[in-house]
Amino acid sequence: MPTYFRTRRGGEQVGLKRKGPRGVLITLEGVEGSGKTTQVQRLARLLREEGYRVLETREPGGTPLAESIRRTLLKSTGERMDPRCETLLILAARSQHVAQVIKPALDEGAIVLCDRFVDSTLAYQGYGRGLDVGLLRRLNRFATGGLEPDLSLLFDLPITTGLARRRHNNLEQNRLDRESRRFHTAVRRGFLELAAREPRRIAVFDGTKSAETLADDVASIVRRFLRRGGRTIGKPADS
Ligand SMILES: Nc1ncnc2c1ncn2[C@@H]1O[C@H](COP(=O)(O)OP(=O)(O)OP(=O)(O)O)[C@@H](O)[C@H]1O
Ligand SMILES: [Mg+2]
Repeated sequence: MPTYFRTRRGGEQVGLKRKGPRGVLITLEGVEGSGKTTQVQRLARLLREEGYRVLETREPGGTPLAESIRRTLLKSTGERMDPRCETLLILAARSQHVAQVIKPALDEGAIVLCDRFVDSTLAYQGYGRGLDVGLLRRLNRFATGGLEPDLSLLFDLPITTGLARRRHNNLEQNRLDRESRRFHTAVRRGFLELAAREPRRIAVFDGTKSAETLADDVASIVRRFLRRGGRTIGKPADS
């Protein structure tokens, strides 16, 4: 299990006045190689240093069962995976992850940082595969029991930049890396449409910036979010 539940200095929960679960769910989203995993690690370190309880996790995955579904999803077997099968596997993993890991951590007051979550399903299976986005929203609600991110950080960059980064850095090529350019372009556009629809929840970052600059941008948005009681967000200061 990941390390989390370090108490905030003095044990108080400054700025986190909200109904329902006491913790905060922050998700990181974006196309392949956009920098999500790099930023989730940096943000977790920063928040832990500041004394927050942090759970760092990812989707698909986050529990042994959900990680085994992840391996199934990313493996190339030669058999074309039907988009509905892909969707239901992702949602199966998500429901397990929420029930076993995310919800309990939120109930204990942690800041949960999740590398991909519900918006990836809308962008990949909706905009990318062409399934109905309204239906996917309902299925997401079914899988999560209605849990929604409080804040989402979207790393946007040209798809060729992200895919090239993954290749150049010798990251293992998975089933999704091998998808068409058209597919990845539709996914990117999907993420941007989701952000345009929910500008208060989804903050968009220029993923072509250096990892250091991005980490600063992310820190400033997240700090502002936590200060304002976890509800109001804006754009990075310099955009
Ligand atoms: N801002 C950045 N500038 C240049 N390279 C970066 C930046 N952020 C991350 N990288 C590098 O690009 C590659 C992909 O980054 P990372 O794994 O963080 O992206 P990701 O969004 O999690 O990708 P995936 O969708 O494959 O999980 C890594 O090799 C990482 O070191
Ligand atoms: Mg990643």
